[in-house]
Formats: sequence, C-alpha cells, structure tokens
Amino acid sequence: MLIAGNWKMYKGRRATHEFVEAFEPPPGVDVVLCPPYVSLREAAAGGVRVYAQNVHWAAEGAFTGEVSAPMLAELGVAGAIVGHSERRQYFGETDETVARRAVAALEAGLGVIACVGESEEEREAGQTELVLRIQVEALADSVGAHERLVVAYEPVWAIGTGKTATPETAHEAHALVKSMLEVPVLYGGSVKPENAEELLAQEGVDGALVGGASLDVDSFTAICATAARIRS
Ligand code: PGA
Repeated sequence: MLIAGNWKMYKGRRATHEFVEAFEPPPGVDVVLCPPYVSLREAAAGGVRVYAQNVHWAAEGAFTGEVSAPMLAELGVAGAIVGHSERRQYFGETDETVARRAVAALEAGLGVIACVGESEEEREAGQTELVLRIQVEALADSVGAHERLVVAYEPVWAIGTGKTATPETAHEAHALVKSMLEVPVLYGGSVKPENAEELLAQEGVDGALVGGASLDVDSFTAICATAARIRS
C-alpha cells in the first residue's frame, strides 16, 4: 500500500521543515511526499521518500522552467508524478507528453506516479471508459508494466471538490486500468481520514494520492495509519 501526499503549490522550505519534523510515518505502509521543487531537499533531509510533482523528458536543454529526471535523481529525489490533471488542464499536458516524461523518469532510475482520470463532462457523457482507455493506452504503449510505475486514478470532478468516487466507481475504474496495464493503482480525489478506509479497502485499490488532506500532519498520518491497518 502506497500513500502519496501531493502538496501542489503549498509549503516552502520552512513549512516543509515543520511538517517533516512532526511527521512519523506509521510502520507497514509506503509513504511518499511530493512537495514543490524548492522544498524537495528539505523534505528528503527529514528522512521521507520524496517525489517531484513533474519532470521533463530531456536530460538537459533549452527548456526554461523545467527540471530533468537526472537532476532530480542527483538531488536524492526518488520519483515524480506525471500527468496530474492540473498539469493537463492548465499547462497543456497531453497523453504524449505525459508518456515521454514517464519514460525519461524511469530511465533515470526514478519511480513514477502517472495520473489518469475523466472530467465531469466526460463522465456525464458516458465516456469514462473511453477516456481512461486512451490515457492508459498511451502509458501501456510507451512504458508498459514497469516495476517502478504506479498509476493514480483521479476522477477530475473529485479533486479538491469534497466529492469522492463511490468505492464501487473506484473499484470499476481500477479494474479497467489493471486490465490494460498490470501495475499498482492509487485512488485520488478528496481522500480524507473519514473516507480513507472504505476507499482503501476496495479490491484493486493499492493506495492513495492525497492532495488537501496531506498538508496537515495529523490528517495525513491518520490516512497512512488506515492504510497500514487495512493491509496488516
Ligand atoms: P485532493 O487532491 O485530495 O485535494 O482532492 C488530489 C490530487 O489532486 O492529487
């Protein structure tokens, strides 16, 4: 079971230091923190496994504002998220660029959490399965079932909205992803201490990608403890 905390654009060095000082991951669960680039070192220094929130496909070059996989590896970063829906929505990320980022990260020895998920309009139009198939196929074709690849199913309508997929919806989506790509699949979208148990207990749910609730030490610890309990 893997619990990853995606801090998005929250917590600079000082707040990161305070968090890792106070945070003790419960035994029996893999935990990853994904702070902003500027706080990666501070988080790693606290002894926690850290992933970046994005990574470029080239090792170096004229790509202003980007950070490469070898640079992250040199910093002691263990992996990266790719294809988060906020990157797809606001920064023009496509299935193709997501796949290229994943390939580069894996080649550099990093782990990857690749995000997929349908929007509210897509779900309402009955296109959930089609959208997931297209997104997962892009990964299956370019990366395949790599041992350091994890997929996160994050229905876009559940991210930061307080709406969560029902355990059955999550179960269905995870089964579809796994039928195309045999890798662990995390659920993401408004995971909180109050709903973690029913989501994580679903067959095929191998952990969670937690946004808002990972910013608070107590709530993130509670979610990690729930994951540890379920698999023990
Ligand atoms: P949320 O975010 O838990 O705040 O909904 C999840 C994510 O975006 O990874």
